[in-house]
Amino acid sequence: MKKLATILLVAVMLLAMVGSASAITIGASIRKYDDTFLTEMRNHMQAKADELGVEVDFTDSKADQTTQNNNIDLYLTKGYEALAVNMQERSAADVVIQKAMADDVPCVFFNTEPFAEALDLWDKVYYVGAKAEESGTMQGVAMAAYWDAHPEADKNGDGIIQYVQITGEPGHQDAELRSEYSIKYLTDNGYQVECLAQDTAMWDRVKGQDKMATFLAAHGDNIEAVFCNNDDMALGAIEALKAAGYFTEGGKYVPVMGVDATEPGKMAIKDGTMLATSLNDAKGQAYATIELCNLLANGETPTEENFSYTITDGKYIWIPYVAVNADNVDEF
Ligand code: GAL
Ligand code: CA
Repeated sequence: MKKLATILLVAVMLLAMVGSASAITIGASIRKYDDTFLTEMRNHMQAKADELGVEVDFTDSKADQTTQNNNIDLYLTKGYEALAVNMQERSAADVVIQKAMADDVPCVFFNTEPFAEALDLWDKVYYVGAKAEESGTMQGVAMAAYWDAHPEADKNGDGIIQYVQITGEPGHQDAELRSEYSIKYLTDNGYQVECLAQDTAMWDRVKGQDKMATFLAAHGDNIEAVFCNNDDMALGAIEALKAAGYFTEGGKYVPVMGVDATEPGKMAIKDGTMLATSLNDAKGQAYATIELCNLLANGETPTEENFSYTITDGKYIWIPYVAVNADNVDEF
C-alpha cells in the first residue's frame, strides 16, 4: 500500500514537472482595457491561446507608457517565453525591444506600429497590424458614392463637401493615416472639400459625443459629412446628432463614417445611423499575433510551412481591412 502510494506520488510529481516545463506563457501588454476594439482583440487572443494550449498573461497599461514599461519588466523577470506588445506610444518601442533582446525574448507588436528603425534593431521582432491608409481610403470611397447618389447631401449647394473630423489618439498611426487618406481619396478624385472642424476624441465614445456637440453648436446644419477615426467615436457623434434632431423619422440626416466594425458599430450600420465602416479584423490580428508568439516561444522561425500568415519584408504581417456598409454588413 505504502509502496503504491509512493509510486503514485512520484508519478504525479513527474507529470506536474513535465506539464510546467512545456507550458509556454506569453506576456501580453495592452495599451488600454477600456477600449471596444482592443477588448475584442484581447478576447480573440485568449481564444487562440486556449486553442494552442498556451498561457497568456494580460496586463492593462491604462494608456500610460511608464505603467506599460513596468508590466513588461515584470514579464521578463518572470521568464515568459514571448511578448505580445500593443505599445502605448510608438516611439517607446525601441526601449522595449532592447530589453527583450537582452533577455532573448521574442517580441510581436500589434495595433500600434513601431517605427521601422526600431523593428530593425533585432530579427526576433515583428509587427501584426492593418494598413491604416486602407481604412481611410474606404471612408473616402463611401463618402464619394453617397455624394454622387444624393444631390441633397450638398446642403448649401456650393458643390463643396463641408465636413468635420473626429480623430483618435494623436501619434497613433491609425489616427494620423485614417484622417489623411479619407480626405485624400476625395481630393484625388476631384471632389472639393472644406474642413469645418477637426479634433481628437482619443478613440472614446463619450468624448466623441462631446466633440460632436461642440461642432454642432458652432456649425449646426452646415455640416455635410462626419468622418470619425473609429466606430466608438462615430457612435458618440451619432448620439449628439440624435439629440440635435437627426436620424428621426423624416428628420435630418448627415453621413457618419467609422472604422473597426465592432459589434455596436455593425448595429449602427444596420439601423442606418452609420453610413459606412471597415472591418479592422480583430480576430485575424489576434490569431496571427498569438500563433507567431507561440512559434517564436518554441524557438522556431516562422516560414510558409509552419505559419498561417504571410510575412512581408521579414517583419510585417498585414491583415487587410474590408469595407462594410448596409449592403454587406450581414456577412460580418
Ligand atoms: C485602432 C482602433 C481604435 C482603437 C485603437 C487603439 O486600430 O481602430 O478603435 O481601438 O486602435 O489603439
Ligand atoms: Ca456644400
